[in-house]
Amino acid sequence: MGVGVADQPAVVRQLRLEADGVVSVSLTRPDGLPWPAWAPGAHVDIVLPTGITRQYSLCGSPDDRDTYRIAVRRQVRSRGGSEYVHAFLRPGQNLAIRGPRNNFPLREHDRYLFIAGGIGITPILAMVRETAERGKPWRLLYAGSSAAGMAFTGELAELGGVVECYVSDRCGRIPLDDLLSEPRVGTGVYACGPETLLTAIAERMTHWPPGALHIERFASRPKPTRPDTEFDVRCARSAKTVTVPPGQSILDALVGAGVPVTASCREGLCGTCETAVLDGTPDHRDDILDERERAANDRMFICVSRAVGPRLELDI
Ligand SMILES: Cc1cc2nc3c(=O)[nH]c(=O)nc-3n(C[C@H](O)[C@H](O)[C@H](O)COP(=O)(O)OP(=O)(O)OC[C@H]3O[C@@H](n4cnc5c(N)ncnc54)[C@H](O)[C@@H]3O)c2cc1C
Ligand code: FES
Repeated sequence: MGVGVADQPAVVRQLRLEADGVVSVSLTRPDGLPWPAWAPGAHVDIVLPTGITRQYSLCGSPDDRDTYRIAVRRQVRSRGGSEYVHAFLRPGQNLAIRGPRNNFPLREHDRYLFIAGGIGITPILAMVRETAERGKPWRLLYAGSSAAGMAFTGELAELGGVVECYVSDRCGRIPLDDLLSEPRVGTGVYACGPETLLTAIAERMTHWPPGALHIERFASRPKPTRPDTEFDVRCARSAKTVTVPPGQSILDALVGAGVPVTASCREGLCGTCETAVLDGTPDHRDDILDERERAANDRMFICVSRAVGPRLELDI
């Protein structure tokens, strides 16, 4: 359950099968007012009637302020999120959502290379549409395990750029070596998909200019195995100092001390618990910040990240 984040009521207007195992859900507001504005790369938290909260990228058009569209892949070993959407969600049903929030914004580049694997196409679809509208050159490489399971190929084909589909049971994998061996100044690379694909892209782009690669993860990576140490968190706004013992997150320690905090995924994925760092060095353990953002040491995700050293001061 989220902590301290306002839920907004939403009504399921339409469910549509977009591909094998992928259903899109269109959501409107029950009061008929427009949804808050969003930009490509944004996601919302969906709070299901079972109480489970999951993040889903917005994949409709930001110009359509009446509808938020998400698309959900049914996970084989679901703990309840995607399974509920596929098995039980029906038009007319009421839900709650939080957000939108954007940890994957589309930055300014001369040209764009988009790489999507499977359901990772959802944020990329909105980005490709925006790039096409801006008239910037773009190319999309979209990989899937079967053609029948790849959503939105029809919508993508209408956008007028270069879309190359790689179906692993037919024509193999995206040729990452050919694609990324030469760094291209001015090209922004945006990738979303399974961890194996994202790791392979990052490994091949270590010699590209800083800021060229932008990644969104839908699932958390294994956390570092370095041991936790105890440290103090000085909360500047609430003027409290809270001790965080090994094995407890900063978030849980602050909740226990009565400090107001916001959280959703508690895995370092969604960005809800982002907190500004005023002093001290964070031990970043999230799956959101890139190396440059980590090195800035000006913000952290307190559901998973800890402190290097005995003390942190946070703007909380
Ligand atoms: C920013 C963001 C955007 C996202 N956008 C989308 C989107 O557009 N579309 C979409 O379909 N999903 C998206 N996701 C993923 C989504 O939030 C859910 O994680 C997904 O639907 C799976 O939820 P679930 O409850 O069905 O499965 P979960 O129970 O959360 O499991 C997911 C997978 O993890 C593995 N797993 C399950 N339990 C365990 C366990 N105990 N230990 C180890 N592994 C386990 C299984 O392989 C399973 O298939 C996004 C996630 C983030 C963070
Ligand atoms: S609660 Fe999701 S990143 Fe911390």
